[in-house]
Amino acid sequence: MGLDETQQKPHDRLSARLAGDLDRVNNLIRERMASEHAPRIPQVTAHLIEAGGKRLRPMLTLAAARLCGYDGPYHIHLAATVEFIHTATLLHDDVVDESRQRRGRPTANLLWDNKSSVLVGDYLFARSFQLMVEPGNLRVLDILANASATIAEGEVLQLTAAQDLATTEEIYLQVVRGKTAALFSAATESGAVIAGASDAHVNALRDYGDALGIAFQMVDDLLDYGGSTATIGKNVGDDFRERKLTLPVIRAVAKADATERAFWQRVIEKGDQQDGDLDTAMGLLARHGALASTRDTALEWAHRAQRSLDVLPQGDLRDMLVDLADYVVERVR
Ligand code: IPE
Ligand code: IPE
Ligand code: MG
Ligand code: MG
Repeated sequence: MGLDETQQKPHDRLSARLAGDLDRVNNLIRERMASEHAPRIPQVTAHLIEAGGKRLRPMLTLAAARLCGYDGPYHIHLAATVEFIHTATLLHDDVVDESRQRRGRPTANLLWDNKSSVLVGDYLFARSFQLMVEPGNLRVLDILANASATIAEGEVLQLTAAQDLATTEEIYLQVVRGKTAALFSAATESGAVIAGASDAHVNALRDYGDALGIAFQMVDDLLDYGGSTATIGKNVGDDFRERKLTLPVIRAVAKADATERAFWQRVIEKGDQQDGDLDTAMGLLARHGALASTRDTALEWAHRAQRSLDVLPQGDLRDMLVDLADYVVERVR
C-alpha cells in the first residue's frame, strides 16, 4: 500500500505530480544517451543514469513550466537538457575530485578510467546542446548556455580556493552559486520562459532556483562530514581529503585556537593527512557548532527561496516547491 499524499516526502510528491512528464523526460534521456559509433558511451551513461539520481533539476524545469501554465511539448527537452548538463558535470567532477563512489555505485573513473569520464562527459555536454536548440527559443538557449559556462567557472574557482585557509565565506558563496545554483536557477528560469511567463514570474522562479541551489550545496557540504556513506551514495570525507574549504570548515577555522589552527594548516594547507585526522576534523566541527550553523544558513537560503514564490499563482505546484525547499535542508541523501 502506498503512503497517503501528506505522508510522502516533498520530493516524492512532486515526482508523483509530474509522473507523466518525468516518464517522457526519462525516455528522451535514454534515447539520447546512446551512441551507435562508440560502445563505451552507452556503457558509461547507462551505468550512471540507470543508477537513478534524484532528478531534482529536471523536476524543477517541469514544475516551473507547468506552474506558468505551459501545455506544449518542449519543457521535456529542457528538463532532459538540464539532467544531461548535470550528468556531464558529475562525470567531470568525479575525475577532478578523485571520487570513488556516486549514486551508490563505483564512479565511472574508477570502473573505466579518467579518459572515459572526461570524453563521455564531453559527449553528454554536446548532446545537451543539441537538445536545448530543439525548442527553437533563443532565450532558453541563452539561459542554458550561460549556466554551462558559469558551472565550469565555479568548479575552476573552487580548484584555486582549495587548500587555502584564507578562503572567505564570500568566495565560498561565489563557488556554490557557480558550480551548483547556476543549474538550479537555469532549470527553473528556462521552464518559466518556455511557458511565456511574465518577467515577474520568470525572475521569481530564477531567484527560487538560485536560493534553493545554494541551500542544496550547503547541505551537500555538511553531509560530506555529517552524513553516512551508505545513505548519501558517495564517500563521506571526500571534501576533507580534497582539502576543500567548505562552509563547515571555514567556520571551524574562524574559531580555531592555536593548536587547532596548526591542525588545519597541516591537513588542509600542507595536505599531510593521517589516519584519524578526519575524526579529529569532525570533532572540531562539532565543538564549534559548524555543522549546525551551516544547516541554519542553508535554512535561511531555503526560506529566501520560499519567499521568492510569493508572487506566483497559488496552487498545489507552488506548495510543492515551497515544501521542496524544506526537504532540501532536511534531506539525508
Ligand atoms: C550532486 O547533485 C552534485 C551536487 C551539486 C552536490 P545531486 O545530489 O542532485 O545528484 P543526483 O543526481 O541525485 O545523484
Ligand atoms: C558538485 O560539486 C557540483 C558539480 C558537479 C558541478 P561537489 O563535488 O561538491 O559534489 P559531489 O559531492 O561530488 O556530488
Ligand atoms: Mg565531487
Ligand atoms: Mg567537486
